[in-house]
Amino acid sequence: MWKMEILPLFLFLTFFLGTTFSDVRGNSIDPETLSLLYVREQKRLLFESIGRSKRDLDFLSQRNNLKGKPGQGYYLEVNVGSPPQKMNILIDTGSSNFAIAASPNPDVNKYFERENSTTFQGSSRTVFVPYTQGNWKGILGTDLVTLTSLPNVTVRSNIAFITEATGFFINGSMWQGILGMAYKEIARPDSSVVPYFTSLVENSGIDDLFALQLCGTVYKETIQTDLEMGGSMTFGGIDPSLHHGRAYYTDIIKEWYYEIVIVDVGVGNTSLSMDCKEYNFEKTIVDSGTTNMRLPIRVYNSVMEKIKQETKAKGLDPPESFWKGEKNLCWAENTIPYDAFPSIYISFTETESSAFSLVISPQQYIRPIGEENDESPDEDCFKIGIASSTTGTVLGAVVMEGFYVVFDRAHKKIGFAQSTCAVRDPTARVSSVNGPFTFNGNSKDCAYVKVDKNNKTMNVIAYVLAGICGLCIIPLCVAMAIFQWRTSRCGGLRKRHDSTNDTNDLMASDR
Ligand SMILES: *[C@@H]1O[C@H](CO)[C@@H](O)[C@H](O)[C@H]1NC(C)=O
Ligand SMILES: *[C@@H]1O[C@H](CO)[C@@H](O)[C@H](O)[C@H]1NC(C)=O
Ligand SMILES: *[C@@H]1O[C@H](CO)[C@@H](O)[C@H](O)[C@H]1NC(C)=O
Ligand SMILES: *[C@@H]1O[C@H](CO)[C@@H](O)[C@H](O)[C@H]1NC(C)=O
Repeated sequence: MWKMEILPLFLFLTFFLGTTFSDVRGNSIDPETLSLLYVREQKRLLFESIGRSKRDLDFLSQRNNLKGKPGQGYYLEVNVGSPPQKMNILIDTGSSNFAIAASPNPDVNKYFERENSTTFQGSSRTVFVPYTQGNWKGILGTDLVTLTSLPNVTVRSNIAFITEATGFFINGSMWQGILGMAYKEIARPDSSVVPYFTSLVENSGIDDLFALQLCGTVYKETIQTDLEMGGSMTFGGIDPSLHHGRAYYTDIIKEWYYEIVIVDVGVGNTSLSMDCKEYNFEKTIVDSGTTNMRLPIRVYNSVMEKIKQETKAKGLDPPESFWKGEKNLCWAENTIPYDAFPSIYISFTETESSAFSLVISPQQYIRPIGEENDESPDEDCFKIGIASSTTGTVLGAVVMEGFYVVFDRAHKKIGFAQSTCAVRDPTARVSSVNGPFTFNGNSKDCAYVKVDKNNKTMNVIAYVLAGICGLCIIPLCVAMAIFQWRTSRCGGLRKRHDSTNDTNDLMASDR
């Protein structure tokens, strides 16, 4: 967002650029109209024209800036420190710390050398971050960071310098760090650690918005090879060349993860017809750091049962071990019968009375494991990209790969548009965004209401209950003199109160 203080400076620069480079920009600004620039309408038009030309330039440099290997996440190249040290960092919309390897680790090919950077500033604060798989420990500090795809913007950012990691880095993945793109509320060790993107927006004037086009193993530039995945991350704008049709937007209901609310889920054309709260039990997040689409157990069971039924009806009957994600399914190269599998749809509200659906084609959720990992060179092997979850629905890379996903933080919305990525099989169904449909219900009824750790009222209630528990137990403890019994009872209550402390689902463990 533009800050009001810089408006006069901005207008001056606009005037300067407008008169100096009128040939390039094609529309010069007459000096006599300068005083009129403060008129509201003029100001709006000016912002739009400048904004557009500036962004067009940035879009170009930001296309195809993501790479990765199947199941190992998407990474972006950054320069850290002075002189700059190039690092690849995993893009994770499910966490909020920027962290890089800063000491040797057998699973990374290089690490950031703090002592070589003249702009590095350390601190004595340490940070520990656990994920469902693995964890890392580091030291908080700051340094200058430049995205190589946005070379003109350098900001000082908080960085966690990783000194110890177990099960976090992936040998051969080519990334040495992680960029958490979510809100400060889930930053570690606490929300005082301002995330990189917030610093970028505050110090560069780019819009508070980014968009992700994840293309899986088939993307325009290297359609020949499926060793690698590709995609584009657009900072500060929406690149019109990366989507077809319009984007449909749904509200971010809470700014911590990118939490949104699902109002319906179906397989083929048939809704699962469950209580919509179940779809969001206990939250629904958009997370590029998780490979699969993960669903709450009851929803998962229902979806899988319907997929198996429809697939069987089409004459294909993969073994149970495939559906469970334990075994790959292989076909001769380019012969996977996508049309034997049904599509899955997930619906969201756009306004109070209208909804839209993401139609996730089997090309998304039957995910290729990459030629490197195929069981034989003339086969294509696939894994199921749907898994169950005990921490809520995760719309991971498998879902995001079908769409251009806009994280419009300024308007507190997530947008989905049909992506321009190439598909493996253009003759089979592809993912799409359908809508708008009339929706008569209340999407708020679908949200899972969770006890908020920061909610003072709930804290007070919890302490009062703990107090009552204590008061009830003390006489019993004294009377029965069973000391251990008392501590375990009280310990149990305290633990429950703290259990909102989530761990992140970084990505699938399979490589
Ligand atoms: C960066 O700045 C240089 C010169 O100031 C300019 O030529 C170039 O187009 C800019 N690049 C981007 C991506 O804005
Ligand atoms: C990492 O992978 C390389 C080759 O892929 C291998 O030589 C090396 O031993 C691996 N390192 C560890 C720690 O597994
Ligand atoms: C850091 O400095 C050392 C000593 O000058 C040098 O050997 C090393 O290559 C430097 N590392 C980087 C990443 O620049
Ligand atoms: C199911 O949806 C497809 C498009 O996704 C449509 O062509 C078809 O007619 C629908 N079938 C039924 C029975 O509604």
